[in-house]
Amino acid sequence: MDLTTDPSKLVAHKKQGAVMTTICDIKDLQQQARRRVPRMFYDYADSGSWTQSTYRANEADFQDIKLRQRVAVDITERSVASEMIGQPVTMPVALAPVGLTGMQHPDGEIKAARAAEKFGVPFTLSTMSICSIEDVAENTEKPFWFQLYVMKDRDFVGRLIDRARDAGCSALMLTLDLQILGQRHNDIRNGLAAPPKPTLNAAMQILSRPRWCLDMLTTRRHTFRNIVGHAKGVGDLSSLSSWTAEQFDPKLSWQDIDWIRERWGGKLIIKGILDPDDARMAAKTGADAIVVSNHGGRQLDGARSSISALAEIVDAVGSDIEVHFDGGIRSGQDVLKAICLGAHSTYIGRAFIYGLGARGEAGVSQALDIIYRELDTTMALCGERLLQNLGHHNLLHPPG
Ligand code: GLV
Repeated sequence: MDLTTDPSKLVAHKKQGAVMTTICDIKDLQQQARRRVPRMFYDYADSGSWTQSTYRANEADFQDIKLRQRVAVDITERSVASEMIGQPVTMPVALAPVGLTGMQHPDGEIKAARAAEKFGVPFTLSTMSICSIEDVAENTEKPFWFQLYVMKDRDFVGRLIDRARDAGCSALMLTLDLQILGQRHNDIRNGLAAPPKPTLNAAMQILSRPRWCLDMLTTRRHTFRNIVGHAKGVGDLSSLSSWTAEQFDPKLSWQDIDWIRERWGGKLIIKGILDPDDARMAAKTGADAIVVSNHGGRQLDGARSSISALAEIVDAVGSDIEVHFDGGIRSGQDVLKAICLGAHSTYIGRAFIYGLGARGEAGVSQALDIIYRELDTTMALCGERLLQNLGHHNLLHPPG
């Protein structure tokens, strides 16, 4: 996709149908998704754990960061192009791994991966996806990234790693902050399961979204296809909570990273770092990047927001390893703020999930387009032409 910062090209892109005139920002996509997706799946993606204080702080803390406006600077030629772990990207914004993406929209992982590859940014497939590694590989052209959870059954984990390599995945993202599941009250209340269980509660949620039901009939992918048929001895495969409780390994430690790195043999990203000491440990593992993340506020409620932790972590390890950032990004302005605070690159989770729930692949493209335009415009109004020139000097009173 030829995306440049030339405004006439952006208008042309609009005319190709990627941007609907009524959708201005990610919040508009969010509203459409809420109307279209059954509550248990919408809430699954759009909730934090327990009181949701960390989930809220992730977004709110971005609002406290003020940008420094500059004028009378030549901003004609601009670029937000970059690279992530050596791979060129249209902008430094990858799609984060999100469990059950294929329940927001039929074959959601395939559609999001296709939108990402057309746009020129990485897509990361979650272990807890509906479409399997093989499903996505068969239906896309470019390599995607695979996110790994470590289970007690190490043979199964080893086979997952091999499957990702065989499918041509170009990075493995190891998540460290979910060996037990955070307490997620909305999921308990809504009876979250994939496929949904035959209860009155589930039936009411599903039947109130008739278009989603009809769309879901077009695919046979309705459960955790990376797991079903591959893992042994799992009781209730449809339930994320019983699955993680039975299978995920609470003994996971820094020592495990050695065998995972060796078995994988490619680019490795470690996700779920929120503390400078953990960042230093991660940098010593030989990984290529870390992701500063509190899992979208879905794990330790009461933990600090990701953006408030970023600058300290960059100070701790900045030149030893690429520091990626995740948590609370709902606009291109948020991307820019994270870059100013030292993030090498960023991820969006909910921002693309809203687009997917609202309009499928076109909605993910639209979300990427929105973020791209906001990032470019904000950079220009800060008086900068290149993302690589951004820094603390573009912010007023940078936190910390
Ligand atoms: C899985 O990654 C989840 O947060 O539910």
